[in-house]
Amino acid sequence: MKVETSEAPMTQTTFIRRYLPGTDPKRHPLLLLHGTGGNEDDLVPVGEMIDPAAAILSPRGNVLEGGMPRFFRRLAEGVFDYPDVIARTHELADFVAAQTSTHGLEKPIAVGYSNGANIAAAMLYLRPDVLAGAVLIRAMLPLQTEPEHGLENMPVMIISGRMDPILPLDNAKRLAEALRGHGAVIDHRVLETGHGMTRNDVDLARGFVAGINGA
Ligand code: MLT
Repeated sequence: MKVETSEAPMTQTTFIRRYLPGTDPKRHPLLLLHGTGGNEDDLVPVGEMIDPAAAILSPRGNVLEGGMPRFFRRLAEGVFDYPDVIARTHELADFVAAQTSTHGLEKPIAVGYSNGANIAAAMLYLRPDVLAGAVLIRAMLPLQTEPEHGLENMPVMIISGRMDPILPLDNAKRLAEALRGHGAVIDHRVLETGHGMTRNDVDLARGFVAGINGA
């Protein structure tokens, strides 16, 4: 499969990203969002396991924390810089909208892990118009406010680790309630594991994405 790694030509903020065209243009592409210290390559093998036929758009977070890429700034672990979360979420959503238009794609399903799950959650709060659904692997409330838009029938899977010390289960439950309260269709799964991504996460995500695609 042809792989393109480059800076996307943009009038808005540019993201280093990987784009793989996929083999079935009718499937929703996967928007892969890595965790802290990751990059645009990290989740590509995971995306290919979740849906081998889908196009993949995998940006690198534009924020550096001690040299580690992230999607927004934080003041401490679990303490977010909320104005930065908002600004970066709109930048990412603008980028996603431009990329789907450029490549003639359907709206993507976000698949985010940890910090990537949190920016995907923030997109659901602020810019759900650019997404067809989301898989949030180890997520928490991204903002202190409520979601700004209706999320009618937006399919969202949240996968938490019961022993996750970084993203507590109670916080993920509050995220699920906030999204559900605005109309999203939430499937919240709790795995008997910690913060790291597991094969079970990938298997759950694959089934969920297939369901959205009607497969
Ligand atoms: C975050 O900052 O988004 C969360 O604390 C997860 C992490 O990246 O460690």
